[in-house]
Amino acid sequence: MRIIITGASSGLGEALALHYATKENQLVLLARREDRLNDVAARCIAMGAKVETIIADVNNVDLMQNIGKQLANTHIDRVILNAGVSMGHSGGVTPFEDFHRLFQTNFLSLHALLESIIPKLIAQKSGEVVFISSLASLISMPTSVAYSASKRAMNAYAEGLRYQLKPYGIDVMTILPGFIDSEMTRKNRFKMPFLLSTEQGVKRITNAIAAKKYFYPFPFRFYLMIRFVLLLPHSLRDKIIYFTNFKKGS
Ligand SMILES: NC(=O)c1ccc[n+]([C@@H]2O[C@H](COP(=O)([O-])OP(=O)(O)OC[C@H]3O[C@@H](n4cnc5c(N)ncnc54)[C@H](OP(=O)(O)O)[C@@H]3O)[C@@H](O)[C@H]2O)c1
Repeated sequence: MRIIITGASSGLGEALALHYATKENQLVLLARREDRLNDVAARCIAMGAKVETIIADVNNVDLMQNIGKQLANTHIDRVILNAGVSMGHSGGVTPFEDFHRLFQTNFLSLHALLESIIPKLIAQKSGEVVFISSLASLISMPTSVAYSASKRAMNAYAEGLRYQLKPYGIDVMTILPGFIDSEMTRKNRFKMPFLLSTEQGVKRITNAIAAKKYFYPFPFRFYLMIRFVLLLPHSLRDKIIYFTNFKKGS
C-alpha cells in the first residue's frame, strides 16, 4: 500500500508510520523537522518499508498544493491527515495571528494537499482519507476556543467529503482521540482524564482504520461523558464546563 502520513516526525504520526512500516508498504512521511523525520524514516526502512520523506510546512499553501499534485501522479491507497498543533490552555483572547496560523495548520492545509489528491482517488475509484480530529471538536472549551473550532471545521469538511466520495468507493474516516501522551500533551499543565499512551492510541486508531469506521471517537467512556454533558440543559452544562475549566487556582 502507498500511505501518506502528515505530521510523521513525532507522536501519533511517528507511531502510525512505524505501525505501517512493513515490506508491503510504501510510506510518504511529511513534517518540518528534518532530523526527526529522517530518524523515523530510517526506523521504518529498517522494518522493511519503502519510505519517501517530504520536509514541508503545511502552512505553505503553494507548496502543499504542489506536493498534492506530485503525490497524485502515483497510485494512493491511504492519506492520513495527522499534522496539527494546539495552543496550550488559556482562558485569554487568542491573538488573531495565532488563531489564523492554527486554523491554517489544523484545517485549511487539509484542502491545499487534498485538492489534487481527491480527483486522483476518484479516478482510481479507491482509497482512504483519514482525518485525525479530536474529542475537543465535539465540545468547545473556554480554554481552547481556536483548537476546538479548527477541529470542528475539520469534522464538517470530512463529513461532506465522505458523502461526496462514497459513490466512488473511497472511504473517508474521522478519528477523534481524547488525551494521548505526545509532545503536544506533555506541555499540558492540567489533569488529562482517560490519558492513553501513544501505543494505546495508535492501536485504537489503526484498528478503527482497518474496520473502516467513518466516525471513531475514543476512549469510549470519555466520549459518553461528553455526549451526556451535551444532552444537559445549557444552564447546567455551563456550570459543569466552568467548574472543570476554571477550578480554584486555575
Ligand atoms: N495527543 C493528543 O492528546 C491528541 C488528541 C486529539 C487529537 N490529536 C491530534 O493528533 C495529531 C497529532 O498530534 P500529536 O499528539 O501526535 O502531537 P505532536 O507529537 O506534537 O505531533 C504533531 C505533528 O504535526 C506536525 N506538524 C505540526 N505543525 C506542522 C506544520 N506546520 N507543518 C508540517 N507538520 C506539522 C509535527 O511535525 P513538525 O513539528 O516536525 O513539523 C508533528 O509531527 C494532531 O492533529 C492533534 O491535534 C492529538
